[in-house]
Amino acid sequence: EKAGHRHFMAKEIHEQPQTLSDVIAAFTDGDRIAPPTDFDFASVARVQMVACGTGYIACMVGKYWFEALARLPVEVDIASEYRYREGPVGKDTAALFLSQSGETADTLAALRYAKGRAHAVLSVVNVAESSIAREADVAWPITAGVEIGVASTKAFVNQLAILLVLAIRAGVQRGTIDTAREAELVSGLKLLPGIVSQALALEDRCEDLASRLAEATDILFLGRGPMYPMAHEGALKLKEISYIHAEAYASGELKHGPIALVDRSLPVVVFAPMDPLFDKTVSNMQEVMAREGQVLLVTDADGAAQASAGVWEVLVMPKVDPVFAPILYALPAQLLAYHTAVHKGTDVDQPRNLAKSVTVE
Ligand code: F6R
Repeated sequence: EKAGHRHFMAKEIHEQPQTLSDVIAAFTDGDRIAPPTDFDFASVARVQMVACGTGYIACMVGKYWFEALARLPVEVDIASEYRYREGPVGKDTAALFLSQSGETADTLAALRYAKGRAHAVLSVVNVAESSIAREADVAWPITAGVEIGVASTKAFVNQLAILLVLAIRAGVQRGTIDTAREAELVSGLKLLPGIVSQALALEDRCEDLASRLAEATDILFLGRGPMYPMAHEGALKLKEISYIHAEAYASGELKHGPIALVDRSLPVVVFAPMDPLFDKTVSNMQEVMAREGQVLLVTDADGAAQASAGVWEVLVMPKVDPVFAPILYALPAQLLAYHTAVHKGTDVDQPRNLAKSVTVE
């Protein structure tokens, strides 16, 4: 049942080229984006996204995509905050609820608050028969298959893929993306499962790095732009399965507090593919190195060529168009956490205190 893998989590990490390719097939038609149910994002002025845990992190990435590709403002909330804040939500807003299980109590309650108030209640769910899928106006299927490991991997990657295709669809509807750019993005999307396979080939290298991360008591993750939520994903995965304390910060926030933590005992994982913000992140990384922080730079060959001097370790990722980078960089977040946990001997698939589906608040 684990298909030769030691844990379900490892099996699910390795299924990702296939599950990603399945979701891309489900949301495209030739060189166009074609969601199984269409929604007109030109009919709203804003999107409110709500989720918990890793789903909330996917929504944080979604905000960057919707705002950049479709010029559509997005607000992202943690479901347990959104449901009790009772903030204004009106008919100019599409409210989107994202959940692997479709049964998370806080997310379901948040959906019920928005229903009748928002223009439409949209959902992204992996379990088609779930409460969230049933109560939403639209239920987009995550198409990841059953996920058993408590730490979400393939469902998270497919959540990202869906938010990206919806952002592209919104851009087409709102006139910020023309047919040529749409076709270019779709052809890039179709290459992604192959690039994810290449990232899986870095597993031995991640295992080696993880054996050293396992010595740490605290680890900091940094990123800028859409790599900021990915820093959160790296920290969340690591915490939940290895029990090492980890925190994520936006690179630019470093000097506003967390830099006080930096010393030679602190590994700092920096997610920084070569993109227009690369130099800014590198200068934050140098501030860490000046205080003897141990930087693990996760970048591509261009980034490694430009910024390897003085770093503790570099993990060289395949090169990808920056728009797709969050999907690809989920892989090192997962692999570093997984191998750190294996090294520490924790129960990877059933971490202490956690449940796969949180149906009580
Ligand atoms: C982390 C993880 C959890 C879930 C969260 C929401 O790896 O899996 O943080 O993301 O409990 O669950 P769903 O998506 O089922 O609403």
